Amino acid sequence: MSSTRLTGALAKLAAKLAADFGSDSVSLCPDTLRAFAADESHGLPSLPGLVFWASSTAHIERALSLCSALEIPVTPSGARTGKSGGAIPTHGGLALSLERMNRILDLSPGDMVAVCEPGVITADLIRAAQSRSLFYPPDPASLEECTLGGNVAENAGGPRAFKYGVTGDYVLGLEVVLMSGERLRTGHRSIKGVAGYDLTSLFVGSEGTLGVVSEITLKLLPLPREVATALFAFPSVAHAARAVSAILDSGFLPRTLELLDDTAIRAVNGPGVDLPPNTGAALILELDGDERQSLQNGLTRLARTCELHGLCESRIATDEGDRQRLWQARQRVARALKELKPLKFSEDIAVPRSRIEQAIERVKALGAQCDLLTATYGHAGDGNLHVNFLYDREEQIPRVERAVEGLMDIALELCGTITGEHGVGVTKKRFLPKEIGDQSLHLHRQLKKIFDPKGLLNPAKIFE
Ligand code: LAC
Ligand code: ZN
Repeated sequence: MSSTRLTGALAKLAAKLAADFGSDSVSLCPDTLRAFAADESHGLPSLPGLVFWASSTAHIERALSLCSALEIPVTPSGARTGKSGGAIPTHGGLALSLERMNRILDLSPGDMVAVCEPGVITADLIRAAQSRSLFYPPDPASLEECTLGGNVAENAGGPRAFKYGVTGDYVLGLEVVLMSGERLRTGHRSIKGVAGYDLTSLFVGSEGTLGVVSEITLKLLPLPREVATALFAFPSVAHAARAVSAILDSGFLPRTLELLDDTAIRAVNGPGVDLPPNTGAALILELDGDERQSLQNGLTRLARTCELHGLCESRIATDEGDRQRLWQARQRVARALKELKPLKFSEDIAVPRSRIEQAIERVKALGAQCDLLTATYGHAGDGNLHVNFLYDREEQIPRVERAVEGLMDIALELCGTITGEHGVGVTKKRFLPKEIGDQSLHLHRQLKKIFDPKGLLNPAKIFE
């Protein structure tokens, strides 16, 4: 523990945690506090007073019961890769890091489940499962850094969610520590189970506001033997949007159907990506299954379908190196947009599949109306679009915020949602009442009170 002086309740908490679990479990060092002040959202950073790294469920129990007694706010923290501010300690207090709880406790091919601590890096579980011919499908963009605990808290998705669903579709059971310091188990290890209220689902996506997840039991699938990947280029995003509808109607269920619009293409095109200069949009598709040839044939048939919608080039990967090259355009996009404009708000809406085309059209019109450059990319197959508003200077933020508001209206008018996979956190909370209505908001507040009567656990997230 560094020697920075703390006063009052926080000083007591720091001293007790250091005495119980060792001084290297606690930090007051300004650099560390700064590192825990922000995530990858545009939410305003806010310093915690103290960071504590839990190494076991017992540590979480002790930290929460101390914070409860001392009335200190707690913000659970994984890898801080969240996109809606869920891990920002808006009320200071304790940042409770789960990153040292990073063991895969059990990986059972017999039961097809994995039991993990919350700090396991998502890609580590994917690789461990793969080594036993098993498959853990959720693949958020940050999978090499983000943690399963964070994925559960936000109910994270990713490209493969189109075919395989999101994190919550794989969570069979949880161990959770409540703000009182009590330990609770929900769910089961069996694939099926319907006893009682589905508390597991209640905790999934609760953004660390109802309890701190200390252990996760996940369902696994058999690993598909083959994956075939293609990139289809189109002259415009309108063409690509129509092609998405045609693909969805074709009877195939790709495991990913990713879109990049014209601005996104402009940002990423160059050496390594090498798309034809007239490319106005691209789709990246993957089929998976058992037989390579039938997957390749499937992609060829989908290319033919897309020819009716202006397809100007199709590239089908023939080996792993090719596959990685095709994905580069998508993997580079978030960073590459910064080369077009220094600042951006990266949004996350989802609409029903029949409304994807309309959503893309309306986003273009919104950008023109607000005089802002927009870049839309993301998981077009499931209607989950990351709309980015690009801008030059901080003074333009009010205009960007108006555009974001317009975007939320578009999502809701098309029967969609204000967030497909990034959560509400702090950045979307002003829009939540519009989506869920007063009655549901009231019920949300009552539920929060049951689990956390003093409002200490990740306060002021999701709703006020
Ligand atoms: C992605 C993140 C932004 O899909 O969700 O790239
Ligand atoms: Zn995404």
